[in-house]
Amino acid sequence: MDERAANGKRVMVTGGCGFIGGHLLRKLLELGHEVLNVDRLTYAANTALVEEFGKSPGHTFLQADVADEPIMRLAMADFRPQWIFHLAAETHVDRSIEGPLDFLRTNVLGTGVLLEAARAMTGNNFRFIHISTDEVYGSLGLEGTFDETSQYSPRSPYSASKAGSDHLVRAWYETYGLPVIVTHCGNNYGTGQFPEKLIPMTITRALAEEEIPIYGNGCQVRDWVHVDDHVDALIAVGDRGAIGDTYDIGARDEWRNIDLVRKICGILDDLRPRASAAKYADLIRFVSDRPGHDFRYAINSDKIEAALGWKASRRIDSSLVELVENTVSP
Ligand SMILES: NC(=O)c1ccc[n+]([C@@H]2O[C@H](COP(=O)([O-])OP(=O)(O)OC[C@H]3O[C@@H](n4cnc5c(N)ncnc54)[C@H](O)[C@@H]3O)[C@@H](O)[C@H]2O)c1
Repeated sequence: MDERAANGKRVMVTGGCGFIGGHLLRKLLELGHEVLNVDRLTYAANTALVEEFGKSPGHTFLQADVADEPIMRLAMADFRPQWIFHLAAETHVDRSIEGPLDFLRTNVLGTGVLLEAARAMTGNNFRFIHISTDEVYGSLGLEGTFDETSQYSPRSPYSASKAGSDHLVRAWYETYGLPVIVTHCGNNYGTGQFPEKLIPMTITRALAEEEIPIYGNGCQVRDWVHVDDHVDALIAVGDRGAIGDTYDIGARDEWRNIDLVRKICGILDDLRPRASAAKYADLIRFVSDRPGHDFRYAINSDKIEAALGWKASRRIDSSLVELVENTVSP
């Protein structure tokens, strides 16, 4: 018999086979929640997670598109979720530049479909938690940070589509009283990230002795947070977040892209020295900058720290060796 915790909730996660969704799902199952994982299994999904989570009695998997309205309505009516964590999205900025319409369909229309279906979910302390990104705020100069009051100023098709979805979520709260919460997080790192993102791309290309491309001069700054810290923040938001509120999630861990890539190369030099005397950093190649490349992101997470008692517990400097080791020998 299923031994779900007495205070366990019925939680619908969209994008549960993605990088962050996979970590969130694992944690929710550990905590004894019953989870419906809705994922279309796009190129970005880790299909091995379907098998891993399939061993848990608390997990149900539905391969479906969040933009498919009849299926989303049926899934919610059948499962009656108390929480929805909405993570399913097209997420890679470069792909959004090459083919923006997929991003509009999944990120904007898909969010709208879920919000409409969720209007039938009343009672049971229902909450719709929308997972968004600091990229909706645009680009910072050398100084300053984003917080919940920052103006939206998205500059890529990806961030514009996420900004659009945030506005829909807020509109469904104001117009229909749907109990929503929005979160914005910085760049996540951790195991299981799709290899086109900066950290796994650097590791896999270095080990394959391929060039490691760096956009522009590599001086762009990103604010990194460990995926498990992000997951803890999301669960705190589920438990204690205020309906209608927004929480920005970060670890105050800013790195220039070039410094991060060099750091990874140095770790690889120790772990798996190249056959020649060459260093992995010799594989770095500066390539034409990404169009509209945001210069700097940095998050002020004072609000979630004070209101919900969450604080990031990891820093990239001390987590990276383990992450590189796990990627080299999983
Ligand atoms: N990765 C980051 O650094 C970061 C930072 C801040 C916010 N976010 C947000 O967190 C969420 C998850 O990001 P991630 O990096 O885990 O993404 P990911 O690209 O690793 O995974 C996305 C998942 O969504 C699924 N998906 C895509 N389109 C779908 C559709 N139409 N219907 C159903 N499922 C679909 C994919 O199959 C995949 O499993 C996204 O909403 C993203 O905007 C990510």
